[in-house]
Amino acid sequence: MSRINIAIAGVGNCASSLLQGIEMYKNSPEDSIGLMNYNLGGYKPGDINVVAAFDVDKRKVGKSLKEALFAKPNCTTVFYDKLPDYPVQVQMGPVLDGVSEHMADYPEDRSFVVADENPCDVAKVLKESGAEILINYLPVGSEKAARYYAEACLEANVGFINAMPVFIASDETWAKRFEDKNIPIIGDDVKSQVGATIVHRTLTKLFENRGVILDRTYQLNFGGNTDFLNMLNYQRLTSKKKSKTQSVQSELKVALDSENIHIGPSDYIPWLNDNKICHIRMEGRGFGHVPLTLDVKLSVEDAANSGGVMIDAIRCMKLALDRKIGGILTSISAYTMKSPPIQYTDSEAKKMVDDYITGRRER
Ligand SMILES: NC(=O)c1ccc[n+]([C@@H]2O[C@H](COP(=O)([O-])OP(=O)(O)OC[C@H]3O[C@@H](n4cnc5c(N)ncnc54)[C@H](O)[C@@H]3O)[C@@H](O)[C@H]2O)c1
Repeated sequence: MSRINIAIAGVGNCASSLLQGIEMYKNSPEDSIGLMNYNLGGYKPGDINVVAAFDVDKRKVGKSLKEALFAKPNCTTVFYDKLPDYPVQVQMGPVLDGVSEHMADYPEDRSFVVADENPCDVAKVLKESGAEILINYLPVGSEKAARYYAEACLEANVGFINAMPVFIASDETWAKRFEDKNIPIIGDDVKSQVGATIVHRTLTKLFENRGVILDRTYQLNFGGNTDFLNMLNYQRLTSKKKSKTQSVQSELKVALDSENIHIGPSDYIPWLNDNKICHIRMEGRGFGHVPLTLDVKLSVEDAANSGGVMIDAIRCMKLALDRKIGGILTSISAYTMKSPPIQYTDSEAKKMVDDYITGRRER
């Protein structure tokens, strides 16, 4: 099979974990632990090849990609450090609203520090690099910056995977622009492999299937990475809370009143680094209206958890490029994203993705 040329916007923890995983699985072909698909439509993890990367942090811009992936403030677990000397230097992107002002109140090792460089022309770099797909890993709340990178993809004819909660794939106007140019798009906001969202959705479906009415629920999340530090700025949080809440609400026939559902990032605890802790509580009534409660605690390494999903989203997008299919990729968006254009249950979405991979389904 041919290689899959990707570009990355935001060389943070998710990018680091994804690229570590790609190399690890490439160099141990018998190992499929942690993957939903080792071979996806003929593509293996090692077929993914990075050709361009953009960031704005002074410890990453102008550095080799390998150096940038392990540079501060990245703090995710290093589970594979034998990365190649990628022939890629991290380029300065436009900062726009990518960096929250409150970051300046925290130690440099923990926060973003903007490089004193002029931004490159992202569309031009994408064209020259031969990138086929751009992954958007910008911080939550980067509304203008996320749209800038989406625009660059439209200009450069590059597929767009939106891993964060700015509504682009799920926005009709944006989706139509990708459809009109026959450029594939997957989004929005990655739903991790076994993360808070899919666990909460699965339990919500369980209540519903077993006739238990869910009266109220919360999902509290905290961690010590820059994603959680960034989200201490509540003004940047609106889209993240909306994305996470609607993902759970969509499993219910009748949505909960907003005062009975609370889902969101809740605090920043530096020593947790990239370890994310999630507490879910569900209160409902079963047979005879008798109350029941469920409490769950989930502990995950946040970035690796998203890598396990992104590695399939990339390969599904490559299949679309091979098949000359553009616009929204409905099935893989529903399976891998919290806010896809159309929500399906996770079991429906899995079946749809399997059919898409084998070609029984167009998108
Ligand atoms: N499990 C997960 O980790 C998970 C799940 C769902 C969604 N997400 C989302 O994915 C995104 C990335 O997560 P992360 O943990 O890698 O974040 P991170 O904070 O580690 O990385 C963000 C990177 O973006 C860079 N950046 C800031 N502004 C920029 C700009 N204008 N142009 C280019 N780069 C810029 C920062 O310097 C940093 O390197 C976040 O929005 C997060 O909410 C992550």
